[in-house]
Parts: sequence; C-alpha cells; structure tokens
Amino acid sequence: MKILVLGHRGMLGSDLLGRLSACYDVVGKDFGNFDITRAESCREVVLESNPDVVINATGYTDVDACEGNMEQCFAVNASAIKNLALACEPESIKIVHFSTDYVFDGQKSTPYREDDTCCPVNLYGQSKLSGEEELRRHSKHFILIRTAWLYGKNGKNFVKTILEKSKTVKRLEVVDDQKGCPTYTWDICEAVKWLINGNHTGVFHVTNAGCCSWYDFAVKILEYEGIADVHVKPIKSDRLTRHAKRPLYSVLSN
Ligand SMILES: NC(=O)c1ccc[n+]([C@@H]2O[C@H](COP(=O)([O-])OP(=O)(O)OC[C@H]3O[C@@H](n4cnc5c(N)ncnc54)[C@H](OP(=O)(O)O)[C@@H]3O)[C@@H](O)[C@H]2O)c1
Repeated sequence: MKILVLGHRGMLGSDLLGRLSACYDVVGKDFGNFDITRAESCREVVLESNPDVVINATGYTDVDACEGNMEQCFAVNASAIKNLALACEPESIKIVHFSTDYVFDGQKSTPYREDDTCCPVNLYGQSKLSGEEELRRHSKHFILIRTAWLYGKNGKNFVKTILEKSKTVKRLEVVDDQKGCPTYTWDICEAVKWLINGNHTGVFHVTNAGCCSWYDFAVKILEYEGIADVHVKPIKSDRLTRHAKRPLYSVLSN
C-alpha cells in the first residue's frame, strides 16, 4: 500500500511518517514543497505520488493565533480540505483526516460521542468543523479522526512546555477547570494503521484512555520526570488572558 503523508514535519505527521514507513511505502510532503491551500498543489502531489491513501496531518494549530488570523486559519483547516478531497476523489483515494475535540462546546459532563452536536467556542474549532463538512461534502472515501491534547517527541506540546519551564521557574500556575484526554501521537499512529488495515470509513474519536485537567497532567509530567522542586498551583481559566476561549470539558468517547 502506498501512503502520502501531508504535513510530515509536524508533531503528528513526523510520527506517522516514521511509524507507517515500517509497514507501508510512505512519502511525505509539507509546507515548502507543497501548499494545501492551493488546489493546483494538491492535484500535483496526489498525481505525482499516486497513493492508495492520503493522510492529512497539516493544520493551522495555534488555537490563540487563529483568533487574530481567521483568513489563514480557515484557508488551511477548512477550504483546503475541499482541495484535497477534489484531488483524491476521481481516483477513489482514501483520505485520513484529523479533527479535534474543540468542535464541541464543553457543556457535557460525559464523554462526547461521534454523533454528538458540534458547537465550537473558538475560531480554531469552527475552522476544523468547517473542514469536516468539506470532507463529508466532497469525499466518499474518508476516515475522519477527532483527537485531542496531543503530545509527541517532535513539535511544540504541553509536556515539553512544562519540562522546559521547570528548568527556570519553581512555581507554575496551571488551569484545573478544563478536562480532556492527553493523547500520545505514537498511539494515534497505531489507530491509523488499524483503521486503514480494517478498511474502515467514517468518523472516529481516537484518544488515549482516561481524562484529567491540565493541572493534573502537569503534576504527573513532573512526577514521572522525578522533578520534586517545582510547585504547581491550580488556577481557573478566567485567570489567564488568552485570545481563544476553550471548552471546559472535551473528553471524547473512543
Ligand atoms: N496538537 C493537538 O493537540 C491536536 C489536537 C486535536 C487535533 N489536532 C489535529 O491534528 C493535526 C496535526 O496536528 P499537529 O499538532 O501535529 O500539527 P503541527 O505540529 O502544527 O503540524 C502541522 C503541519 O502542517 C504544516 N502546514 C501548515 N500550513 C500548511 C499549508 N498551507 N500547506 C502545507 N502544510 C502546511 C505545518 O508546516 P509549518 O510548520 O511550516 O507551518 C506543519 O508541518 C491537525 O489537523 C490538528 O488540527 C491536533
């Protein structure tokens, strides 16, 4: 099976490229030699690579920056998905695409199911939901994976931020009123393999098991790393001045 990974230099994309290369014939493209916002560029990479499956791990992923850069955020996360679907559909190429827990408003208190109503509270979530709609509209062969709170060995993520800060700051303040499912990118790769091999299609929530707050997560990260001289103080989200609102509860039911 030949797989084209788009966004292969990103946090998730780099693990997908590495992990899937052990089992399949995998090529990667990213910003620099490919631009998902350009229909022509999408057609070119699909034609050139001639894949059986395209995995789209691109994204405008800075949630706060999306609020001030709506045009680019929607170009990458929403309209680009139409470009990709239109490039793949004539050859019936399957698309694996990633969306987010942030398509939900966080008002539930039990895990969100795939068929729960989406109602994003920020522009990032709105753009990702719009991307989902483009995919459903223009592709008949897709695996849409909603995942959450990713961390991996490459790229910027919460685990790295906490460990980096702990080198210089001995008192950290972390919110304890947002709950989600921290998810390891390596485990997403395993789920992608399983979904592709099983020839599945449709919408899937894929996260690691269990849930916690960002505060709980920070405490565990320091504990696992054996860092005992950093104190973590739980705070509420309204203490932070961030551009984008976050859902308070975005746990996904796998
Ligand atoms: N991170 C999370 O916690 C999380 C949670 C839920 C869902 N997701 C979704 O999972 C996917 C992967 O996330 P990630 O955290 O691995 O993202 P990431 O590390 O930010 O990587 C995204 C990649 O997309 C590339 N890209 C951006 N604009 C592009 C364009 N116009 N054309 C081609 N490539 C472009 C980026 O290149 P540059 O670096 O050069 O811009 C980067 O290599 C995204 O769809 C995201 O929405 C992520």
